[in-house]
Amino acid sequence: MRRQQHLIRLVLAAGLAAGLIGCLTDRASRPAPALRAAARGRCLIGAAIDAQAPDDPLVRPLLERHFASVTPDNLLKPDALQPREGEFTFDQADRLVDFARARGLAVEGHTLVWHHQTPDWFFKAADGGPVDRATALRRLETHITTVMRHYQGRVCAWDVVNEALSDVPGEYLRETPWLRAIGADYILWAFRFAQAADPTAELYYNDYNLEIPSKRDQALRLLADLRAAGARVNAVGLQAHYTLRWPAGADPETTPSEAWPDAATIEQTVLDFHAAGFPVMFTELDVNALPGDYNGAEVGLRLATRPELDPFRTGCPPAVLAAQARVYGAVFDIACRHPDKVRRVSTWGVTDAQSWLNNWPFPGRVNHPLLFDRAGRPKPAFFAAWRALTGRH
Ligand code: G3I
Repeated sequence: MRRQQHLIRLVLAAGLAAGLIGCLTDRASRPAPALRAAARGRCLIGAAIDAQAPDDPLVRPLLERHFASVTPDNLLKPDALQPREGEFTFDQADRLVDFARARGLAVEGHTLVWHHQTPDWFFKAADGGPVDRATALRRLETHITTVMRHYQGRVCAWDVVNEALSDVPGEYLRETPWLRAIGADYILWAFRFAQAADPTAELYYNDYNLEIPSKRDQALRLLADLRAAGARVNAVGLQAHYTLRWPAGADPETTPSEAWPDAATIEQTVLDFHAAGFPVMFTELDVNALPGDYNGAEVGLRLATRPELDPFRTGCPPAVLAAQARVYGAVFDIACRHPDKVRRVSTWGVTDAQSWLNNWPFPGRVNHPLLFDRAGRPKPAFFAAWRALTGRH
């Protein structure tokens, strides 16, 4: 009997010890808290992903744990889907969309109408000259209709028109091949075609630098015009390509960087669109950590290589990571305080390795703009986002 009790005690003690060890190892190896869960019920947390994401051992688990929505960064653009007239190439995009849906991730469509990554044939007549308006409109309709019908029920929302506003002071719309071929109403027609193609999809207008008051005014004018003409625009995408700023060559540990835009400006932007009747989404959030005097995302901007604008090749200094974290914290804080106005926060990539900012405005930079570093580890920016979402410190 006594032997039996002793045995039971031994087993219990061993079980307890095993549990304790399990607990400790679990705590040590516990992954970062999940962003998606922290944001539940307020806004969707998303990320742009590229064609490699399904096979990327770093990105895949991060996606599954932290994100509720994905935006294919290049695969749904016109050059990927219709490289030649009438030749639709859905295979690569289908694979990514199916991968996301199999994990319960919402898929955001980016983008139907843009001036980049759109093949020249859209704008050329048979004789190689400029296309006429009727043909351009027909091509616009065919592209939008075919793509949206193909993804109906799988892609829940589309950036119908991307970056149609001009950055030239005093100019309203950007001078694009679509504008030249059709006229200013190409935007209205794009929304009409989209609405007819898939009445269930959400339709967005998406652009960068809408935090600049003059460009925000252009956007508000465009949205008002579209609404007056009967077009349905469900929300506005604030691309949110933000940046830290300090003089090139300055020591980031001793020179405080400024952030562009500041939190009050971002919040005012949200309030202004909401007051006009449009919810917003932060669709392409990143915070450029490198010096340089440019903001936004004019992908046409190309500079010669300047090593002094690429100073963090072996790692990002803690002071810079802390300054960046404050920007991320501010964005997520705004999203939390305005759940009726901000529907989604998506970063443009998952780890720093995938960011377009490694190649803009000159190739081969080592930038650090996202929530996870190149090893997939959560950065101070991640924890700032998590704290803003949970209110925990
Ligand atoms: O696909 C070609 C490949 O065949 C070729 O060998 C290679 C050589 O450079 O280029 C590949 O194309 C690249 C493409 O991404 C796909 O990887 C282009 O050079 C490169 O310029 C292109 O960059 C994309 C950029 O849009 C250009 O339009 C970025 O990945 C993409 O993240 C970026 O996304 C945009 C949004 O759509 C709109 N808002 C701004 C945002 C950031 O620029």
